[in-house]
Amino acid sequence: MPASLPAAPPVPRHIAVIMDGNGRWAQSRNRPRAFGHRAGVEALRRTVEAAADLDVRFLTVFGFSTENWRRPAAEVEALFDLMRLYVDRDLDRLIADGVRVRIIGERAGLSADILALIERAERRTASNSKFGLTIAFNYGGQAELVRAARSLAEAALAGTLDPANIDTALIARSLDTRDLPDPDLVIRTSGEQRMSNFLLWQAAYSELVFLDVLWPDFGRTHLEAAIAEYQRRDRRFGAAEGQTRHEIVPEEASE
Ligand code: IPE
Ligand code: IPE
Ligand code: MG
Repeated sequence: MPASLPAAPPVPRHIAVIMDGNGRWAQSRNRPRAFGHRAGVEALRRTVEAAADLDVRFLTVFGFSTENWRRPAAEVEALFDLMRLYVDRDLDRLIADGVRVRIIGERAGLSADILALIERAERRTASNSKFGLTIAFNYGGQAELVRAARSLAEAALAGTLDPANIDTALIARSLDTRDLPDPDLVIRTSGEQRMSNFLLWQAAYSELVFLDVLWPDFGRTHLEAAIAEYQRRDRRFGAAEGQTRHEIVPEEASE
C-alpha cells in the first residue's frame, strides 16, 4: 500500500455485547417479559450472522448474570429454557458455519441438563476456528476473579506457585476467557450505561458504546453503527496520542 494512504481503521477483532432491554421491549407491547427474551434470541441469531459477515472474529454475549438469580423464579426458568432451545435449535448450523462455541461463567449451581448441553456445544464445536461465539451464562466478573484468586492461592499453598510470579498474564490465564483476546469493543443496548459485572478484568481497555435500542430490535445496522463509532475512537492504552498501536502493543504486531 502506498505510504500516503492511511490504513483503514480495523474492524474490532472481539466484540462483547450486554444484550439488555428485553423486559422493557415486552412491557411496551403489554406482553410478559419472557416474550421479550424470546425475541432477544432472534436478535442474537442476527448478530452472530452479521458479526461473522463483517469479519469480526470473536463475539461474546451476556446471557445470564450471577445476579440475575434475583429475578422471579419463573423468569429465571424462562431464560434457562431459552438457553436450552438456542443450543438445541442452532448447534448444527453453528457447526456448519465453523463457529466455535464457548460458555463462560459459574458451572456450580447449574442443573445437570444445562451442564450436559454446555459440554455438548463446546465439544462439538471445539475444532472450529472461523468464528468464536462465547456465551456468558451464570457469569459475573467478580465471581470469575474470585475463582481465579482461589485457584492461585491453592497452587501457592501446594507449593507449585511462587506468589512473586503472579502477574497480569497469569491472572488472565486463570480466567474463563483464558484463550480469548480481550474485547476491543463492548456494546450495551437499552440505554443503560454500566457494566453490570460483565468482563471486568478483560474490558480494562475496551471501547464502550452504549446504544438506545432495546436488544430485541438490535440488528446488523446497529452493529455497523457501533463498529463505525469504534473506528472513530483513538485507542491509546495509556500511551500518548499519535503513538501507533504497533509501538504500544508490540506482541500484536505479527498478527
Ligand atoms: C436483558 O434484558 C436480558 C437478560 C438480563 C437476560 P432484561 O431482561 O434485563 O430487560 P430489561 O432491562 O428489564 O428491559
Ligand atoms: C445485564 O443486564 C445482564 C445481562 C444482559 C445478561 P441486567 O439487566 O441484569 O443489568 P442491570 O440489573 O440493569 O444492571
Ligand atoms: Mg436489564
